Amino acid sequence: MTEARSLFDRVGGTHYFERLVDRFYAGVEKDPVLLAVYPDHADFDGARHRLTLFLVQYWGGPGTYSEERGHPRLRMRHPLRLHGCFRSRQRTSRFRPT
Ligand code: HEM
Repeated sequence: MTEARSLFDRVGGTHYFERLVDRFYAGVEKDPVLLAVYPDHADFDGARHRLTLFLVQYWGGPGTYSEERGHPRLRMRHPLRLHGCFRSRQRTSRFRPT
């Protein structure tokens, strides 16, 4: 019987997630509302790195994210004001990820 391959393997590994996260942050950097949510604008490299490792691990790749960060604690690590930000983005429908 063939073993099911993870999405991580099917998309070709880490490089796919790096490109995905780069596209996400390219959108964030052009969006003043989302940009304001980031506590440290200068550390986008760190934010990119953490999100990439998280997605890699979630989709079946190496577990480096947990080794570096432990439990993701996503609610705690996303500022509360994000919720308001998402609501206003839905209302105006101006946010279109590139
Ligand atoms: C518009 C959507 C989003 C915004 C504006 C946003 C914003 C943020 C911010 C401000 C941080 C802290 C920056 C940093 O790590 O230095 C962060 C961290 C993170 N976000 Fe998001 N986020 C979004 C969506 C998501 C989604 C959909 C996921 C995953 C399903 C996600 C996963 C993560 C992870 C894994 C971290 C790093 C947690 C850590 O280890 O510290 N984010 N995000």
